[in-house]
Amino acid sequence: ALPRDLEGRRVVVSAGGTAEPLDPVRTLGNRSSGRQGYALARVAAQRGADVTLVAGTTADLDPPAAVDVVRVRTTEEMRTAVLDAGKGAEVVVMAAAVADFRPADVAGFKIKKGPGEPEAIPLTRNPDILAELVAEQVPGRLVLGFAAETGDADHDVLSFGRAKLERKGCDYLVVNAVGGPTGHNAFEGADNEGWLLGADGSSVALPMGSKAALAARVWDTVADRLA
Ligand code: C5P
Repeated sequence: ALPRDLEGRRVVVSAGGTAEPLDPVRTLGNRSSGRQGYALARVAAQRGADVTLVAGTTADLDPPAAVDVVRVRTTEEMRTAVLDAGKGAEVVVMAAAVADFRPADVAGFKIKKGPGEPEAIPLTRNPDILAELVAEQVPGRLVLGFAAETGDADHDVLSFGRAKLERKGCDYLVVNAVGGPTGHNAFEGADNEGWLLGADGSSVALPMGSKAALAARVWDTVADRLA
């Protein structure tokens, strides 16, 4: 049986990519299956948490049982949903692959080929949802970020991750080792590996395994911290 160490804890998890409209039929977005975020939400609910999953564009996944799912498409929609659900939360996990940019203008009609067709798409920077969560400085609320890093060795991935954790100012950062010597593709697959880095200086290895197993290790650390 799973531990009930998240009983009654209010948790928000974002998952999947965001997609920004260019015109009524086209979008610019980040590819993400959403599998790791869904696993985090499912495992937290199984351990007793009260979970809101803010899901962007994902593969065709079964919604986790006993989880409140909010579907969004754009970064702005994800931002509103995460900040809103995050108000009463004790833990917010930004597992989503958020589009850093969006088209500056959204055409009202499908952009046509031929004379006058655009040669470039001007972009605008999207808000950084994780940075906004950190800036809110809600006492007692833990904020976790994700980062995909490539490196030739664990050492590189760890030092990139440590630098990003400090830059982002969140409490924990899950660093996915992508690419590198194994060439492992964490994005589409069922498995994942990496490190859980804490602002307290802690680092926990997350060995290659299912996304549910990685989620369980992340929640072990978070549950200890909340206790
Ligand atoms: O800086 P980078 O995009 O690598 O950081 C990744 C982390 O920041 C992830 O947790 C992601 O969900 C979050 N993020 C965000 N808003 C953005 C970009 C990234 O919340 N606009």
